[in-house]
Amino acid sequence: MTFDRSIKIAPSILAADFANFGAECAAVEAQGADWIHVDVMDGHFVPNITFGPATCAAIRPHIQGVMDVHLMIAPVDPYIQAFADAGADVLTAHVEAGPHIHRTLQAIRGAGMKAGVALNPGAPAAAVEELMDMVDLICVMTVNPGFGGQKFIDMTAKIQALRTMIGDRPVHIEIDGGVDPTTAPLVAQAGADVLVAGSAVFRGGSVSNPDPYGENIRNIRAAAEGVWT
Ligand code: DX5
Ligand code: ZN
Repeated sequence: MTFDRSIKIAPSILAADFANFGAECAAVEAQGADWIHVDVMDGHFVPNITFGPATCAAIRPHIQGVMDVHLMIAPVDPYIQAFADAGADVLTAHVEAGPHIHRTLQAIRGAGMKAGVALNPGAPAAAVEELMDMVDLICVMTVNPGFGGQKFIDMTAKIQALRTMIGDRPVHIEIDGGVDPTTAPLVAQAGADVLVAGSAVFRGGSVSNPDPYGENIRNIRAAAEGVWT
């Protein structure tokens, strides 16, 4: 993984056909996705359950690019090695997931992955200030985690504060929740470069009719990049 601040669209397979993850990942990559965002939920940290490391390992051979795994689980530490073995490129843990996020991030890098830290809408930018030199990605949640298809919560001021805090460090700012062509310009202008989108990518298409995926991805990217032209 090389670092740059260009806009990257990361479809969340939470909005894909759960019986067909491999083909869905291949379809969105063929239609222009940059990363694949994989939402792991435990029914404890968030009020929903998705899947764990075995499913991530099964999906991995169907992804050519970056597998971006978002853990909405607590505790995190006992499962880090399993997600490394599953082939995660980026592993993101929530700052709210436990008292020892610093140790968790050390362990993620120690297992050979890029380390991400996620902030719920209720957490301030300052919650990650001491972690700046040990993360590769900061995920700003623009919904309360647990479900796709929720309404975007404006976190512009937090994104701007994080962008300033990051300075010249090679740290991505990822936005997760309610990203579509309307909200993408707001977060891109504030300093985000990785845009996760579930429903806004997968709506209207399917594995047998993937062209809408491409149109949706192009529309989000064009909206986000439009602010720089
Ligand atoms: C929410 C997940 C998101 C979700 C986004 O808990 O972390 O990745 O899939 O879905 P949309 O884009 O539909 O808000
Ligand atoms: Zn996510």
